[in-house]
Amino acid sequence: MKNENRNCFILGIETSCDETSAAVVRNGQELLSNVISSQMEVHRRFGGVVPEVASRRHVERITLIIQDALDQAGVTQRDLSAVAVTQGPGLVGALLIGVSAAKALSFAANLPLIGVHHIAGHIYASHLVEPLHFPLVALVASGGHTELIYMPSHNRFERLGRTRDDAAGEAFDKVARVLGLPYPGGPRIDQLAKEGKPSLNLPRAWLEPDSLDFSFSGLKSAVINQIHNANQRDEQVNAADLAASFQQSVVEVLTEKAIRAVHRMGVQELVLAGGVSANSGLRDALTHRCEKEGIRLRIPPLKLCTDNAAMIAAAGTYRYWEGQFADYTLNAVPNLSLTAMD
Ligand code: KG4
Ligand code: ZN
Repeated sequence: MKNENRNCFILGIETSCDETSAAVVRNGQELLSNVISSQMEVHRRFGGVVPEVASRRHVERITLIIQDALDQAGVTQRDLSAVAVTQGPGLVGALLIGVSAAKALSFAANLPLIGVHHIAGHIYASHLVEPLHFPLVALVASGGHTELIYMPSHNRFERLGRTRDDAAGEAFDKVARVLGLPYPGGPRIDQLAKEGKPSLNLPRAWLEPDSLDFSFSGLKSAVINQIHNANQRDEQVNAADLAASFQQSVVEVLTEKAIRAVHRMGVQELVLAGGVSANSGLRDALTHRCEKEGIRLRIPPLKLCTDNAAMIAAAGTYRYWEGQFADYTLNAVPNLSLTAMD
């Protein structure tokens, strides 16, 4: 790699959705600070993230969060090697706050500027715990994404599959909402599922036989229909059984397709990433399958699964070492493609 000088300190900035975060990572792996300010409470009363509200909160917090990240890491702007920021995908108004802050800091402190893809960041979260072993397959499942990615080496990404409609986390959140559970619904469904039995017959969208894509909107509609039909008949749905059945359907498809991708690409390591990695059903199913099939499974701790800037700094370090810098025309791209970042 071109720029691989040791002792590189990267400041990461992440504002793609409802977390304002800044972090300092040394040499791509050593987490010196990771400050995360969640807006979850602000959005809860609306039942989901309100983009305008998210942007305003990011503006209010970003400067303080960056300073906190530097202070907690015990470094100053002068110690930094570069600033890495999430360029996309995400909410455009939210992304713009991070991108503008990163550009301002890069200009003021004369630091190289690096744009990072949000999904790349999610995968690199595991690298902060233990080095990634290439080639690998990553399953990224969050509120905004559900993708299978192949990585032959650092900084190289190939998309094997993605959701054609709802993301897995989004389906969890929507089903939870219909069940009257507060946002974000994923953890609530997870809890509720433990009290129920997966006794309801719900669909699994396998799509074409060789497809590694996902689809969760049919499942979501099936669940909503069951609830509405029961309501019309004045019957009570068993919410716990419904949660358990829904979760099992999502978990089965995610697990099966991730294992298929691992076999298809002939890799030994599977990296789980994104907020849905917290799901106990998914963790158990993947742990069990990977043990049985001799696949090394990597699940980062919860704090690194959900959106954070340390993962952006880690991914940004490898772009830094390859000299992949942005200029001041860097812009937020809400539907940024991962392969366009090579
Ligand atoms: O990665 P993340 O923090 O943000 C995005 O990039 O979207 O993921 C948040 C998503 C939400 O949809 C949330 O409901 C889901 O992750 N989630 C879960 C669990 N914990 C969080 N879904 C299922 N089970 C969980 N335990
Ligand atoms: Zn995310």
